[in-house]
Amino acid sequence: MGNGRGYALVTGASQGLGAALALELARQGFGLLLTSRRADALADVGRQAGALNGGRVQWLAADLFEPDAPARITAWAEGMGVPVTCLVNNAGQGLWGLFDELSLGDQQRMMRLNMEVPVELARRLLPRLKQARRGYVLNISSMSAYTAMAGFAVYAASKSFVLRWSRALRGELSGSSVTVTAVCPGSIITGFTERAGMQALDRLARRFGTGPAPVARAAVKAMLKGKAEVVPGLMNLLTARIQGCLPDRLNERLTDTIYLRRLPRKR
Ligand SMILES: NC(=O)c1ccc[n+]([C@@H]2O[C@H](COP(=O)([O-])OP(=O)(O)OC[C@H]3O[C@@H](n4cnc5c(N)ncnc54)[C@H](OP(=O)(O)O)[C@@H]3O)[C@@H](O)[C@H]2O)c1
Repeated sequence: MGNGRGYALVTGASQGLGAALALELARQGFGLLLTSRRADALADVGRQAGALNGGRVQWLAADLFEPDAPARITAWAEGMGVPVTCLVNNAGQGLWGLFDELSLGDQQRMMRLNMEVPVELARRLLPRLKQARRGYVLNISSMSAYTAMAGFAVYAASKSFVLRWSRALRGELSGSSVTVTAVCPGSIITGFTERAGMQALDRLARRFGTGPAPVARAAVKAMLKGKAEVVPGLMNLLTARIQGCLPDRLNERLTDTIYLRRLPRKR
């Protein structure tokens, strides 16, 4: 595997799943264009990935909450003069809490990051991806895409959006050289829970979660095979399959026991 893979643009590459995806893509022979807000953390991941792919790594610090960030990132990637063959829409965040208690602005920013940014990046980069002999879009959704989740309402809905959009885009691109893969991980031990204000669930997340490396391996493997959707981990896959057989109301009651009942109430 060599330079033939081209370059992958990875968002949210400074830590967690994004950093693990960057390292796995480097191992599989991709050059890397990495982005997130923190330059130091990106440089760190960039150095590790460079040791795996012969130093074919560039990074750009950008805040995806800024309206022009996707355009700037795309212009930067295209200006590199390298073949961009893969887009990994990984950057995302959660917000745990009741819809009418969480700030509207925070929820709107999350919707922007989780939904609009992936759509905009894909729309801007698709012409470039289509030029490749083989092009890939890897969208990070979540197992929370499979059911409505009280206490995690907007986040779970945003991940359903990612999954459905991803599958539909894949259908539109069938017959082209580009495949679209959605990844629906269960709990991964990263900075996600802390940033989502889910400290009260941290012990549970650590007990049932996995590290990001196996999730990244499963995600990249599915992407290279051109699969539509993957749920990494056997237990997660079984859970998703069982969920698929149950009525919505039952699935919602089950998620209530974790995400609604354990929610620390404001006085
Ligand atoms: N952890 C889980 O249990 C889990 C489960 C299912 C799905 N997921 C999904 O997996 C993806 C990665 O999450 P993670 O678990 O790795 O979380 P994480 O550890 O919090 O990492 C999030 C990444 O996104 C970047 N990011 C956040 N806000 C950004 C912004 N405004 N602009 C640019 N970059 C931003 C962060 O980098 P900077 O701080 O440097 O900007 C960081 O690299 C997300 O889409 C998440 O929804 C996670």
